[in-house]
Amino acid sequence: MQRRPLIAGNWKMNGLAAHLEEVDAIAALAAEKPTVDVALFLPATLIARAVPRAGVVAIGGQDVHGETHGAFTGNVSAAMLHDVGATAVLVGHSERRTYHGETSPDVAIKAAQGHAHGLSVVLCVGEDAAVRNEGKAEQWVSDQLLASLPADADPEWLTIAYEPIWAIGTGVIPTIDEIAAMHGALRSALRGVIGDKADTMRILYGGSVTGDNAPDILGLDDVDGALVGGASLTAAKFAPIIAAA
Ligand code: PGA
Repeated sequence: MQRRPLIAGNWKMNGLAAHLEEVDAIAALAAEKPTVDVALFLPATLIARAVPRAGVVAIGGQDVHGETHGAFTGNVSAAMLHDVGATAVLVGHSERRTYHGETSPDVAIKAAQGHAHGLSVVLCVGEDAAVRNEGKAEQWVSDQLLASLPADADPEWLTIAYEPIWAIGTGVIPTIDEIAAMHGALRSALRGVIGDKADTMRILYGGSVTGDNAPDILGLDDVDGALVGGASLTAAKFAPIIAAA
């Protein structure tokens, strides 16, 4: 089954106007690699300025509120993201789940909000070290995914990102066999809910992806791209990951 790879960068709470030059450089890389989709999830403050410079790179927000509008100080709605030119949104990142108490049902609502406003959605799941060490990771993450999945989940607009929490920003990654087993487990969990559409839904790997480990990770059958934090902050570090896809 051919799925078009997606290499997505998540800048988290990094980036000022000067860093827009990196968007220009990443746009140039993406233009040279038409077989791969490239996206950048930027701080909300950079989105409107990045969009005109992004070329084929999809620009997205890092979170969205579950309600359409209202008295939610500090939050950003899906309509607001769409209004400034974003075409994508990240939901359920472990940093949102951990530091902002977001639950899987919250994440499902956020995903549906993004879709309702025409955004493509990357939905993150992943276990912590304790779950991994207990040997329960595949079942635990499959359950988390199904609890986070919006009702009308469809590969046309939804992508899954498997990000083990213990691999994020640590330089430690699962073994290639562990990644393959998890992605296989997630795809079969999806198949139980969305049937054959599971075959076309992209499942990304995220957590300490670099130019060095990207070829092995992206070479796996069930890995359809990467969600990249630190190594997406500069075009120089992002380039070999895009090249490996
Ligand atoms: P990292 O972050 O690549 O810096 O480990 C990945 C992520 O949190 O999306």
